Amino acid sequence: MTPDFTRAVGFLQAGKLVAFPTETVYGLGADAANPEAVARIFAAKGRPADHPLIVHLPGAGHLERWARDIPALAWELAEAFWPGPLTLILKRAPEVPYAVTGGQETVGLRMPAHPLALGLLRAFALAGGGRGGLCGIAAPSANRFGRISPTEAAHVHQELGATVALVLDGGPCQVGIESTIIDLSCHGDQPPRLLRPGHITPEQIYAVTGVRPEWPAEMLGENVPRVSGSLEAHYAPLTPMYLVASEQLPAVIAELQKSGRRCALLARTRQTLPVLTHAQSQLPDEAEAYAHGLYAALRELDRSANDVIVVEEVPADPAWAAVADRLRRAACGSGEV
Ligand code: TXA
Ligand code: MG
Repeated sequence: MTPDFTRAVGFLQAGKLVAFPTETVYGLGADAANPEAVARIFAAKGRPADHPLIVHLPGAGHLERWARDIPALAWELAEAFWPGPLTLILKRAPEVPYAVTGGQETVGLRMPAHPLALGLLRAFALAGGGRGGLCGIAAPSANRFGRISPTEAAHVHQELGATVALVLDGGPCQVGIESTIIDLSCHGDQPPRLLRPGHITPEQIYAVTGVRPEWPAEMLGENVPRVSGSLEAHYAPLTPMYLVASEQLPAVIAELQKSGRRCALLARTRQTLPVLTHAQSQLPDEAEAYAHGLYAALRELDRSANDVIVVEEVPADPAWAAVADRLRRAACGSGEV
């Protein structure tokens, strides 16, 4: 079936919500230049209004409509990584509504790599774009606030139901976790900051630009409490979730089962367990393939009536940093095992 871009663009121009696949996760889209349409995103997600949204662009040629004082590094990064899973935080252009930026003077911008997302953005541009002729689609992940991001169209229906005018179905998302976010709005000669690790790594950015984004210590996966009270609970299943080191899995699961709790396991390596878990899922022991399957696996275990989800810890290795970040956030707030 050919995607219904004409209908989708009609909805966007009428201020309605259209969900669409990107290479990372599904987005919940609205005309980024229309504050009332953007307000509908916040209402549908149950998201606090001071949380900024990412604006999706049909190409780097649109950057100057949305940002000002764009540093050379931003052009270099767009050239190297767009379309792709990299979001740039830049100073906002005056026309960008505060509704999109959460009241801040900066805006998050990215050009997604999925053919349906690009098709939609190009059709939107061809039809004259949104308010004031600006052409950007504001789209957070298409989940209820704080929940697991959707990586399939069916997940979007589960999360948001009838609040969305249309869901474009592009099958499962390839990357599976949200884009890397780099803050380039810092002043002077301060290095850019990594705000969210993702598929595109600081190493790749360094290799292309010679500039190494600052990687905050809490993202390195070392010296971090397994269940942290300092991280905002995010990307989380409803079922309490614990991260457990591989060698401790048998003992922890035996203990949980003994206490009568229905226990699900998300493993990465082969496990010989003393007792059967209520549900079990295994993801590949390789970071990119693991990321691709992570949210669908968590969603499945969350839906199968378990009391706890035990997740086998991932290696403390830069290749796993983005996955480790999502797991830490998902486990945050579940307390000690
Ligand atoms: O892969 C992705 O980035 C997906 C797809 C749909 O593009 N989108 C996504 O959006 O993950 P969302 O809203 O779920 O997460 C966006 C993150 C939030 O943590 C937000 O705080 C941050 O981007 N962000 C957006 N604009 C920002 C800004 N101006 N300054 C700092 N952080 C910003
Ligand atoms: Mg999100």
